[in-house]
Amino acid sequence: MSPLSELVKNRRSQYVIGNNTDLTNEEIAERITQIVKDVPTASNSQTTRIAIVFGEENVKLWDHILDVQKDVMPEEMWGMMSGVMEGAKGGVGTVIFFEDLDAVEKMPTSPSRVEVYKQNNNANAQYATWLALTELGLGGTLQHMNVGYEQGFDKSVKELLGLPERWEMQAQMPFGSIEGETGAKEYIADSERVVVIGN
Ligand SMILES: Cc1cc2nc3c(=O)[nH]c(=O)nc-3n(C[C@H](O)[C@H](O)[C@H](O)COP(=O)(O)O)c2cc1C
Repeated sequence: MSPLSELVKNRRSQYVIGNNTDLTNEEIAERITQIVKDVPTASNSQTTRIAIVFGEENVKLWDHILDVQKDVMPEEMWGMMSGVMEGAKGGVGTVIFFEDLDAVEKMPTSPSRVEVYKQNNNANAQYATWLALTELGLGGTLQHMNVGYEQGFDKSVKELLGLPERWEMQAQMPFGSIEGETGAKEYIADSERVVVIGN
């Protein structure tokens, strides 16, 4: 398998994470920064912003998210997700993905495409970051703790971390050392996913 194929294969959702790594925060931040820099964006609009949160700030972040979500998350989902949120505090850190709405507004495309391209831009950065973490031997999950957004959740996270008001939160990626078993994954048939045309 090529190094790229292996990396792509090895990236999985890792829900049980810890803080057992020799990597420094600077090494992790540097790798993610460089990877995200080369992520393609629509018309090179570069609308995505990320915050890499470590240490005590990471614990504060997830305490805050837990605090907000306990009041707004449906009970069944709370049962599944509260452990993930608690677990995130014991990891190495969290990458939070945002879109800078000032940059999004300037995207040179038709208004009907802006929302789609904004999300595509952000998703590209999310996946690249996930691969970068995998390459570093770390694991994580992609979370959307955005329930309660209407109640100002996004605003309070930005206030907590001192981030610009115009950054719109899209997703969170808590990461750390891999401490659990990787679950089995089911796949649809390749032939259903990919059609090869011509020769
Ligand atoms: C767009 C998108 C949204 C996702 N949202 C969540 C989420 O909110 N919480 C979560 O635990 N996993 C989330 N995931 C992770 C997927 O459930 C996971 O990637 C999928 O089941 C395949 O498993 P794998 O990551 O181990 O390959 C999301 C993934 C994608 C691509």
